[in-house]
Amino acid sequence: ENIGTVVFENSTEASKAVAKEIANLIKVKQSQKQPCILGLATGSSPKGLYAELVRLHKEEGLSFKNVISFNLDEYYPMEPDSVNSYVRFMKEQLFNHVDILPENYNVPDGLLTKEAIADYCDAYETKIEALGGIDLQILGIGGNGHIGFNESGSLQNSKTRLVALDHITRVAASGDFGGLENTPRTAITLGVKKIMEAKRVILMAWGEGKSNIIKASTEGPVTSQVPASYLQEHNNATFILDQAAASKL
Ligand code: GLP
Repeated sequence: ENIGTVVFENSTEASKAVAKEIANLIKVKQSQKQPCILGLATGSSPKGLYAELVRLHKEEGLSFKNVISFNLDEYYPMEPDSVNSYVRFMKEQLFNHVDILPENYNVPDGLLTKEAIADYCDAYETKIEALGGIDLQILGIGGNGHIGFNESGSLQNSKTRLVALDHITRVAASGDFGGLENTPRTAITLGVKKIMEAKRVILMAWGEGKSNIIKASTEGPVTSQVPASYLQEHNNATFILDQAAASKL
């Protein structure tokens, strides 16, 4: 078991610690005149992190000009301006409030034709590889142990691809979409392989509701049933938890 777990009093303190690590990495890369390649996540879990990064930009002058980011996933199909689109989420939470260059952030395109998806996904990975891979990947975790939208059954070497969403993932999202019948059935997700190739991985989870899946992911068997358990085989992955999410460990 290689996953480090770090438990904070609450998600605010935890998010600040993650923001500090990211800010330090951005600054190290700046001093080396290198881009900083970040893998970013959506969902409620990273909201506090993004708020703190915005604060560091506004109050402490942290610049994102050398940041190139790749988001994990997007619903498919999805209009970029829709209230539920992940590109809109990222603009509202982070991109519109910092000095990242618009050409430097990447969120999977929810408007592709079906025929274009496979080539698009290959190109998304090639772009990451050409930059030397992801320096730091931020993850949340689904109640079933999904990372990005790599649902149960996703293989450790899975590529970036179109996936069918699990029923429980759709139920969890259905409130945002005004009912299950309006909730997308598919999504585009970065594959497990690119996540595992990231040099550093930070998974954030808050609340009692995540405690069982956190236990399964960190202490249970490494299994495709719980894709987050693959992180046990990553040499630099840390789970950042609040006390409630860590309560079953
Ligand atoms: C969605 C996202 C995941 C995220 C998960 C958990 O399924 N695609 O990347 O980790 O939700 O969301 P939350 O952080 O709101 O619990």
